[in-house]
Formats: sequence, structure tokens, C-alpha cells
Amino acid sequence: MQSGGDYSNGFHGEVEKQLPGLSSFGRAKRRSRGVAHDPRGGLTNGVRVSDQLGEQKPLETQKSPPPCTDFDVAYFHSYAHVGIHEEMIKDRARTETYKEAIMQHQSFIQGKVVVDVGCGTGILSIFCAQAGAKRVYAVDASDIAVQANEVVKANGLSDKVIVLHGRVEDVEIDEEVDVIISEWMGYMLLYESMLGSVITARDRWLKPGGLILPSHATLYMAPVSHPDRYSHSIDFWRNVYGIDMSAMMQLAKQCAFEEPSVESISGENVLTWPEVVKHIDCQTVKIQELDSVTARYKFKSMMRAPMHGFGFWFDVEFSEPASSPAKTTSATSVDGGSSSMSPSREGNQKKRSNPSDALVLSTSPEAPPTHWQQTIVYFYDPIDVEQDQVIEGSVTLSQSKENRRFMNIHLEYSSAGRSFVKESVMR
Ligand SMILES: C[S@@+](CC[C@H](N)C(=O)[O-])C[C@H]1O[C@@H](n2cnc3c(N)ncnc32)[C@H](O)[C@@H]1O
Repeated sequence: MQSGGDYSNGFHGEVEKQLPGLSSFGRAKRRSRGVAHDPRGGLTNGVRVSDQLGEQKPLETQKSPPPCTDFDVAYFHSYAHVGIHEEMIKDRARTETYKEAIMQHQSFIQGKVVVDVGCGTGILSIFCAQAGAKRVYAVDASDIAVQANEVVKANGLSDKVIVLHGRVEDVEIDEEVDVIISEWMGYMLLYESMLGSVITARDRWLKPGGLILPSHATLYMAPVSHPDRYSHSIDFWRNVYGIDMSAMMQLAKQCAFEEPSVESISGENVLTWPEVVKHIDCQTVKIQELDSVTARYKFKSMMRAPMHGFGFWFDVEFSEPASSPAKTTSATSVDGGSSSMSPSREGNQKKRSNPSDALVLSTSPEAPPTHWQQTIVYFYDPIDVEQDQVIEGSVTLSQSKENRRFMNIHLEYSSAGRSFVKESVMR
């Protein structure tokens, strides 16, 4: 196995770099940001639970919460900007699937206590209140919580939705909850590392047998061919207004393909059925499991094509705990539960107790587009693969040591006697 750092093999190794300062994160990556409240400063701007429910005491002695780092402050800061919330809410596949999931699980929500982990503008909390929740704790550490509180008031729901402006790790809720709802998924599912906060909420407040929406998440990968992208970014330099600028090509490859690229591909770009990188059951997953995820893969190309890298996408499923007596039977799947990009063979196949029951939000290349698009880890140079050629190796996704919200990607690849490694960082 060769390691990166050398363009001659078509791959290039990346070393993780120290960030020069606070950066923008998550889905707010490319957005400007407003003035932020420091979530370490306490619950100063929003409504505290004790303002509405009297004196609060912790249910149990909690382990001390993880520190809120400068990176976390910058992360919450990025969510104070309206643009990111507008983008998420306008993503109809996302927002309508959450709304449908809430309505489908109305029997679990009516008259019950809900916590919305990372409520943003409060939209999911309000859906839960509309579904008949007795009380919804809407928690967000970003300054957007101030607006969420205004939205709740303007909709006459202040008696039901209690906005807590602080980290899930720090706020106090003086009762157990029946339901946790959260939209925590980052690019490539695990980027942003917000699932850890959902796990914290589960372990702090969820009643045994309580509902978590979404209940499951699955990250997939598959080899992709994307000649148009390659020619648009790289071949372009061969002839620029009649000038041979191919000397620019190495730099162009480095700039275009050094980091994973969030972009939309279609099913036609995908060379094989996908494989599962990680399947998560939100009822049982442990925070430590997410520090580093490794999966081995083995694909057989379904066609002869230049392979430009690997595509990653995910889906989440909204189903009740297996033991639940009130299992709904009328559920439908937004992708019919049988997306052609969902693997249908053994091996790393996702397990569902009853696939036709599950409501699924899919970010597959063949599903309706979402703001997550797909994430492509490009090679620096394409590799020609033949039909039935075996492509195998492993991928490891791990939280960056410097900033746990960044993701290190270590990809080992071997096919037709050639073996390489590509290291990259999603920041
Ligand atoms: C992807 S947005 C979802 C917003 C909203 N639920 C929606 O669906 O439109 C995630 C939100 O979670 C918040 N968040 C992330 N981690 C958190 C934590 N540990 N405690 C409180 N809020 C958190 C962020 O500030 C952000 O507003």
C-alpha cells in the first residue's frame, strides 16, 4: 500500500492543519455570520425553564459536561445567521419528511413531553406542539434561540413550547421526556458531530422505551465516475483562449480535489450498488462509537468507466422502538423504501425490521435533491476500471483531534494490482 504525498500515483496525502482562527462550520460553511452570544456565558438571552416552571433541580447528579470550546462557539455562531435556517427550511424533502414523521407518530406525541435538540427557529418544536405535545423543550445554544422564542410567542404556543437558550449538555430539564426530535445530520452524515448531543439528551432525559426521531441513520458509499466535473475543473486548463495552460493542472487538481466536495451527482455517475459505511440505531449508539468509524468495502464495477473517486450519502429512518405496542401501520416511505441506490444484497446491507413500514429521508443521488447533496472524495487523477473489476479497501472517518466538528477521511483503495491511500479533512 503506497501512502499519499505523491502526485505520480494520482493521490496526494493531506496533513491535518491547525486552523488559523475561528472558522465557519457545518451547513453555514460559506455564509457570513451575525453577532453571537457565547453559549458558555449561561442562559442570558432566551427563556429559561425556571422562568416558566418554577424552581428547577437536576434529576440526578450529572457527569460534568464537555467543555464548550472556541470551535463550538464559532459553530453556534454560524447557526445565528438567518441564511442557514432559510436554506434548511426551504429544503422541502427535509422539512416535509420531518413534519410527516411527527404526524405519523402523533400517538406517541399527543399529551407527551418532547425535547427538540437544536431547535433552530423552532419549526420542529412547533410541529410537535401542533401534533398535541403537552410540553416541548426547544433547546438551542445559538442566538437563533432568541428568534425561536419570538416565533413560539407569535404562534400563541408559549404555554407549550419552552425555549432554552443553551447547550443540551448544560441546560436543566426537571422531568423525563417521552420523545426526542432532532435534525442533527451533517454533510456525509457525521460531519458537525451533532449526534453526540442527541445521545447526551437521550441519556439525560429520555424515558425507557421513549421515541427518538429519526430513529436510525445509515451512511453509504459507492465508486463514482464524473467526467464532466473533471473536465470542467481540470481539462479546462489545457487550452485557455488558445493558450496552453496545462501547467496549471496540478494546482487545479489540488485545489479542486484536496478536500471532499459537497455537490449533486445523479444515479448515472454511480458505478455500483452502494455499501454501508455505518448504520446507527439512535436508541443504542454510544458517543465513543462515533470518534472513529472504519468500514471495509468491496465493489464490482458494473461498467467500464473512468473512476473519479467515491461518493457518500445517507438516509435517516423514522420508526418507533421495536418493542413499542403502538407500532404504526400506515407509514409510507418518501423513497418508496426501495431507492435504487439502496443496497439490495447481502454483506454490508442495512437491516430494517420491516422496510415497507419506515418513513425515510434519503440523500441518495436518486432521491429528490436536498441541501446535503452528496459528498465526493475525488482522486487527483481518474482510474480506468473495467466492467466487473473489483475495487476494494477501507474507509475510516474520525473526528479531528483539533476540532471534533471536522472530519478526517482516510481512504485505502486497491484494484487491478494498484493500491493507494488518500487522506483528507472535511473542515
Ligand atoms: C441543523 S440545525 C436544525 C435546526 C432546526 N431543528 C430545524 O430543523 O430547522 C441544528 C441546530 O442545533 C443547534 N445545536 C447543535 N448542537 C447543539 C447543542 N449541543 N446544544 C444546543 N443546540 C445545539 C445548532 O445551533 C442549530 O441551530
